[in-house]
Amino acid sequence: MLIEKLVQKPDTVTYEELVYLLEKDDYTEKLFEAADEVRKRYVGDEVHLRGIIEFSNYCRRHCLYCGIRSENKNIDRYRMTKEEIIERAKRITERGIKTIVLQSGEDPYYTAEMIADIVKSIKKMNVAVTLSLGEREEKDYELWKESGADRYLMRHETASEKLYNFLHPDSSFEMRVKHLKTLKKLGYETGAGCMVGLPGQGPKELALDLIFLRELDADMVGIGPFIPHQDTPLGKEKAGDLKMCLKMIALTRLLIPDSNIPATTAMGSIHPNGRELALKVGANVIMPNLTPAKYKPLYQLYPNKICVFESDMRCIPCMKKMITNLNRKVGTGFGSRKRTDVIHFEKV
Ligand code: 5AD
Ligand code: FES
Repeated sequence: MLIEKLVQKPDTVTYEELVYLLEKDDYTEKLFEAADEVRKRYVGDEVHLRGIIEFSNYCRRHCLYCGIRSENKNIDRYRMTKEEIIERAKRITERGIKTIVLQSGEDPYYTAEMIADIVKSIKKMNVAVTLSLGEREEKDYELWKESGADRYLMRHETASEKLYNFLHPDSSFEMRVKHLKTLKKLGYETGAGCMVGLPGQGPKELALDLIFLRELDADMVGIGPFIPHQDTPLGKEKAGDLKMCLKMIALTRLLIPDSNIPATTAMGSIHPNGRELALKVGANVIMPNLTPAKYKPLYQLYPNKICVFESDMRCIPCMKKMITNLNRKVGTGFGSRKRTDVIHFEKV
């Protein structure tokens, strides 16, 4: 049976079989159960918290779906200083968070050296550092790796080359793949992932995402619904569907059993229990938004983003409660992918 094959020989599952599972719902319940079992077997009951700081909403790119695209003149832009970022990271790590994620738009204001300095300072706090800064030069990635960065998030957004190129008028899918491969080569734990429910993206396109993720052997996979933003060219399109997102998460868990998969903020933004549901069908990571309160509402990739008006560190206790309510455990370690669970400190 198809679900058994997914559990026992995920590498042999074909594109056509994935399309079938995404199109039809006759196996969906079994798929969700299997994903939860495989999650438990490979990565256990711990849910890892990754504290994210969105430190700049300036972006030089023109992605058709994104609220902080450079054409959007309807938002106030902000940049945190180096000192502000480090101070924030300090406050977060003092709360026991073991991973700091630094995210921004593609903002060339921050030179490679500036980012390297920030990484070095945060690494002294004995935590894993994840960067999510978009596409930069290989030598920048290299410098940051040498400075101690452990992980890099760069979603592939969609593996339909045609759709990718339409959504990213200033780039190409080919370029994206090149960057992801470079990050892997440099030894980053590498995160990819996609949106679900983009215009023109159905089961046939989503199956391409799953095949792509399996081939890349992504260490981390972020999946969430597309949510239309009024000030973008896709403002009038429909949002992604919850069940389809859950199927994508479950299938990813089965195809890359030991990967780290977050229950994304976008999941929580389209459904009140979106993140809990994700954690029940394969996800094992959650990312409290710990951007300082005054900047949080300005980092609007999509509207109705949750937690934006929560004060300060509220998301930490809220998420811990969510985890224990699900009978899971709050992660205590770095929560790196098992096969690479070595964090090096001697470099700092
Ligand atoms: N809806 C949902 N997700 C979005 N992202 C950007 N814009 C949107 C949107 N309108 C996602 C992209 C990006 C991540 C940081 O946020 O997948 O990689
Ligand atoms: Fe942010 Fe609940 S996770 S308030």
